[in-house]
Amino acid sequence: MTIIVTGGAGFIGSNFIFHMLSEHPDYRIVCLDKLTYAGNLSTLSPIMDNPRFRFVRLDICDREGVNALFEEEHPDMVVNFAAESHVDRSIENPSIFLETNILGTSVLMDACRKYGNVRYHQVSTDEVYGDLPLDRPDLFFTEETPIHTSSPYSSSKAGADLLVLAYHRTYGLPVTISRCSNNYGPYHFPEKLIPLMIINCLHDKPLPVYGEGLNVRDWLYVEDHCKAIDLILHKGRIGEVYNVGGHNEMRNIDIVKLILHALNKPESLITYVTDRKGHDLRYAIDPTKIHTELGWLPETRFADGIQKTIDWYLTHQDWWEPIISGEYVRYYEEMYGNR
Ligand code: NAD
Ligand code: TYD
Repeated sequence: MTIIVTGGAGFIGSNFIFHMLSEHPDYRIVCLDKLTYAGNLSTLSPIMDNPRFRFVRLDICDREGVNALFEEEHPDMVVNFAAESHVDRSIENPSIFLETNILGTSVLMDACRKYGNVRYHQVSTDEVYGDLPLDRPDLFFTEETPIHTSSPYSSSKAGADLLVLAYHRTYGLPVTISRCSNNYGPYHFPEKLIPLMIINCLHDKPLPVYGEGLNVRDWLYVEDHCKAIDLILHKGRIGEVYNVGGHNEMRNIDIVKLILHALNKPESLITYVTDRKGHDLRYAIDPTKIHTELGWLPETRFADGIQKTIDWYLTHQDWWEPIISGEYVRYYEEMYGNR
């Protein structure tokens, strides 16, 4: 079994590759990644010499390159994690989101069609459903919830999802889609809430909370997401969408305070900054379908997962320090300088 995993030098893709190599000793993984600012080859260094692993630097929008790789590798499956993934960046510059997230998805699926109707899995997000009101805790996203996006990021992911379903219906491509809630864990790029707050805490820097910090996200430990995708690849019904989430809703401000307390830092580090444009209020997944059909349940409780994550950032400064001292410095100035 050879699986092409795109975006495997990023947060979830790298965790997925580690998971697959250890859970399936007879599988070969080919990681295809453009290495954008969010891709980090050092993450994959422990497996670079593994004979069951190959890394190829490639843009998923590069049709010739993608086709050549399919000719060489004859993959049995493709799992597409490659994406521009940060909402704030999409608000600043939407166009690269449309290119990678929509066009790139079509290039990969065209190759799947051309080289033997290859099984294709799209890693999507709960953000395609838009948001839920804060005062209706009884409401959740199901797979039937209409697509109703808020940001250029979520719109590009929704566009890709529609295309994936269209390739199934029109060409019979064997596809599945997973729509997961917010992930956290090791190798999370430090522009996202949890790693940003941990690292700023460690540097005694202000913690920029958007608006009043009352927005709610449904957090899932990354390993649980990887296990869900593994299950969908092997047991999921073709043509189906599966929501993935662990009923773990938290307000941003509560996460920030939890991190502060865990690191023994004062709440005076909290700085309320201008809200994100179009900021989604609440995400909350109903995971009944993946639970009843595939038996998936999250295994890591938030209290344990967040402690493991904080410990990981404490012991892996060698991973994140080069990131925050590079191009990221300029990004941070631009994003937070006048906020
Ligand atoms: P990430 O930003 O950490 O990693 C993205 C990876 O894709 C990077 O390695 C980057 O180099 C690569 N990439 C970007 N453009 C590419 C291109 N044109 N060609 C090839 N490679 C390219 O993202 P992540 O948080 O690991 O998210 C992975 C996937 O999961 C995304 O599709 C995202 O929409 C989805 N998702 C993320 C979350 C979350 O909480 N992070 C939740 C649900 C779904
Ligand atoms: P983020 O990690 O960017 O994920 P997403 O927008 O995809 O949910 O943000 C999580 C939440 O944290 C979101 O409501 C925005 C908020 N946030 C802050 O308050 N401050 C920050 O500096 C960042 C990056 C996010």
